[in-house]
Amino acid sequence: MEIPFADLRPMHDELRSELDAAYKKVMDNSWFIQGKELEAFEKEFAAYVGVKHCIGVATGLDALYLILKAYGIGAGDEVIVPSNTFIATALAVSYAGATPVFVEPKIETFNIDAALIEAAITPKTKAIMAVQLQGRCSDMDEINRIAEKHGLKVIEDAAQAHGAKYKGKKAGALGDAAGFSFYPGKNLGALGDGGCVTTDDDELAAKVRALGNYGSDYKYHHIYKGTNSRLDEMQAAFLRVKLPYLDKWNEARRKVAARYLAEIKNPLIKLPLATSEDYEHIYHVFVIRCNKRDELEKYLADNGIHTVKHYPIPMHMQKAYAELQILEGNLPIAEEISRTVLSIPMYYGMTMDQVDYVINRLNKFG
Ligand SMILES: Cc1ncc(COP(=O)(O)O)c(C=O)c1O
Repeated sequence: MEIPFADLRPMHDELRSELDAAYKKVMDNSWFIQGKELEAFEKEFAAYVGVKHCIGVATGLDALYLILKAYGIGAGDEVIVPSNTFIATALAVSYAGATPVFVEPKIETFNIDAALIEAAITPKTKAIMAVQLQGRCSDMDEINRIAEKHGLKVIEDAAQAHGAKYKGKKAGALGDAAGFSFYPGKNLGALGDGGCVTTDDDELAAKVRALGNYGSDYKYHHIYKGTNSRLDEMQAAFLRVKLPYLDKWNEARRKVAARYLAEIKNPLIKLPLATSEDYEHIYHVFVIRCNKRDELEKYLADNGIHTVKHYPIPMHMQKAYAELQILEGNLPIAEEISRTVLSIPMYYGMTMDQVDYVINRLNKFG
């Protein structure tokens, strides 16, 4: 049996006629940037997340970068970032001109260890990036408490967390502002690149909107040196089709995760945490850990099961961040995660036969 790591076809096949109609509607309107589809999607996604504002932008990376810029965070400032995340979290800080300061995660949650944050705060610290990695939220009460105590902004990187909840509130509504990615493989994905910022902060919302539109608050009137980062009409129309199905897709992922969690029984394999009332997981990825990870990866590939490593090299060991001069061994948890993680197939439309097969093969490894 051949099982892809992810497959968008089951989702898109079910919605094909609706997506075709959305394409046709935009073509018929012949209006492609900053029109009615974007306006409607922004309202719908803000309502879904439970915030006042949603601003469509070009990518998730831009969403994070624009929030930092809008808060005036830049050269000479520091931003706390988990040492285990996709590099875009740190790149947003670097693009803004500030310095990312890596704080180790808890190995069981993969997310930033809130107990280690205060030790990393200096007079230069301006914000904490709380990444809701893999679709599970960070310890937001503690992060918000520390941020308030030290006068810092809390910026959620919700790129992997569409619909995830923390104590009943959705990711995107848990800090001062949040960045989402609509990269096609995300739980809510466009048919190309896309992203958005969500916030309750009126001033920030207006500034992000202007910064992403050449720094313009109205046409040909420029109040900032902005950039061009907008979610186009076609992608907004596709996202409007998909948003009403997001909860159903997340539920299907939780069903697959529940089976993996209950039925993968191999002492060599460590499983991620289960969804819970306080941390409602959306399993953007299902990440197992194994000390013989590379052997396991090959064994699964030989059995037709495709996997991905999220992520194989921690950020401080990437050439791009050599300037930070963090030597190997200094962030041991991030390094251990990189050495041991493997994401196994997880997508809407996986059949129970496929789930059976993955479980069966994993249980036979060793
Ligand atoms: C945690 C995290 N942050 C940021 C991003 C950046 O999003 P995008 O690819 O839309 O720029 C991604 C997605 O790739 C991500 O997984």
